[in-house]
Amino acid sequence: MNSVSCSQIRQVEKLKEHWPGVFTSKAENEVSWFQPYPETSIEFLELFNLPHDANIIDIGGGESQFVDALLERGFKNIWLLDISATALDHVKKRLGDKADQVHFVVSDVVAFKPEVQFDFWHDRAAFHFLTSEEQINKYVSIAEGAIRPNGHLILGTFSDKGPTKCSGLEIKQYTQASMSSRFEKAFERIKCIEVEHSTPFNTTQFFLFCSFKKK
Ligand SMILES: C[S@@+](CC[C@H](N)C(=O)[O-])C[C@H]1O[C@@H](n2cnc3c(N)ncnc32)[C@H](O)[C@@H]1O
Repeated sequence: MNSVSCSQIRQVEKLKEHWPGVFTSKAENEVSWFQPYPETSIEFLELFNLPHDANIIDIGGGESQFVDALLERGFKNIWLLDISATALDHVKKRLGDKADQVHFVVSDVVAFKPEVQFDFWHDRAAFHFLTSEEQINKYVSIAEGAIRPNGHLILGTFSDKGPTKCSGLEIKQYTQASMSSRFEKAFERIKCIEVEHSTPFNTTQFFLFCSFKKK
């Protein structure tokens, strides 16, 4: 094993401790990314008229209410992936009996080995934590393999007007051009919008949301 892979292992171990710590020490609405309702994500979802049996995954879903909104809409094949088992346990508790309808996956997204192909891949504020070329390329290649032809990918990251850190960790900001260039080999860009997110602390964060269609 070379020194690069050793330092990467240390970094993943650090993240595996960081995120459960966040979800143990803070309530759902005490984190900057909290939204009472995932409005932008649902607006993108509704553009595509997905059938109720569509395979939908929320990457780095944390404690987001996106899964609740999907269940309310009658979607039956939902996956929720996060590096933090603590976040997923909180969601299971919140959903009660409805949790049985969701596939929970505790994994680092760049180690994810999907067993199905997805019609809709959603990621709000997880992709931007990948800062090395190797991690970003892995994510892109996993998404390329996991999303079926004509399936959709929705990514929300901090924009070039947004913060440079989140939860004390470095993030990578994106513009429409830099995000598109990462995914253009296998995806056609549909549209990008900039969204102002109001945090629970009365501050504003600029996000970029882009939708893509798998070629
Ligand atoms: C800023 S929070 C966003 C949570 C949620 N998407 C939302 O919009 O409320 C980032 C989430 O990504 C998860 N995460 C960070 N890095 C990850 C990785 N490498 N693999 C999987 N999940 C990750 C964290 O545990 C956390 O739940």
